[in-house]
Amino acid sequence: MEKRDELYAGKAKSVYRTDDPQRLILHFRDDTSAFDGKKKESLARKGMVNNKFNAFIMEKLQAAGIPTHFEKLIADDECVVKNLEMIPVECVVRNVAAGGLVRRLGVEEGQALTPPTFELFLKDDAHGDPMINESLAETFGWATPEQLATMKALTFKVNDVLKQLFLDGGMLLVDYKLEFGLFDGEVMLGDEFSPDGCRLWDANTREKMDKDRFRQGLGGVIEAYEEVGRRIGITF
Ligand code: ATP
Ligand code: TYD
Repeated sequence: MEKRDELYAGKAKSVYRTDDPQRLILHFRDDTSAFDGKKKESLARKGMVNNKFNAFIMEKLQAAGIPTHFEKLIADDECVVKNLEMIPVECVVRNVAAGGLVRRLGVEEGQALTPPTFELFLKDDAHGDPMINESLAETFGWATPEQLATMKALTFKVNDVLKQLFLDGGMLLVDYKLEFGLFDGEVMLGDEFSPDGCRLWDANTREKMDKDRFRQGLGGVIEAYEEVGRRIGITF
């Protein structure tokens, strides 16, 4: 497969066309950002760690029957994926209260959420990724009711698989964000699953092992990502 021109440079990844119009190359950069891009830093090894982390998780999800865009790793910091028509709606599931939920509702951080919650956000940096709902998504044509139902079902299926995977490694999957897209009309999981887009706490000490270490200036960001990876069997 031949790498062609850059299609898009996001905040953390660059997307390249290939000689196959149905395939893209995702290049995971060391760039890290938070607060809608207001806080930015380059963290050594991040691109490699997130690329390998994502590949491991996508393969687990695929094996559990969840359709994903992931095809193969081609470099430490690059992988081949299916070229999806991305749906601009982010799906968030929360098992434990943290982050935006605590800020918005004033509930106690760390409170278990039973049943887990499901929220939708519009992928729109210019408007701070506002929270939306099914009605808005349908009216504005961001996703059909059928696509939303599939996205919700797949997002909860991911929860079943990953909650247990992380628990087996002594960690709590607090919350996470997924992005989906269409390939030949089928809804598939796209983008990435890494500690950049989820919250993971040590199950005993509740130490933060995810991007909150960057957001809150706690240090040891990539060391924590690598520790999460090691605990679930990833070798970097
Ligand atoms: P955010 O951080 O809010 O997700 P971003 O655009 O800055 O936004 P990056 O991860 O840096 O995020 O960029 C990767 C881009 O590639 C995203 O816009 C994502 O939606 C898109 N993308 C991911 N997987 C695919 C795919 N399989 N096909 C097409 N586009 C994809
Ligand atoms: P949330 O608590 O709503 O936002 P914040 O990160 O601002 O506190 O996020 C819930 C989870 O989803 C968290 O693990 C981060 C992830 N997420 C993203 O990675 N990107 C997004 O655009 C959104 C809305 C959430």
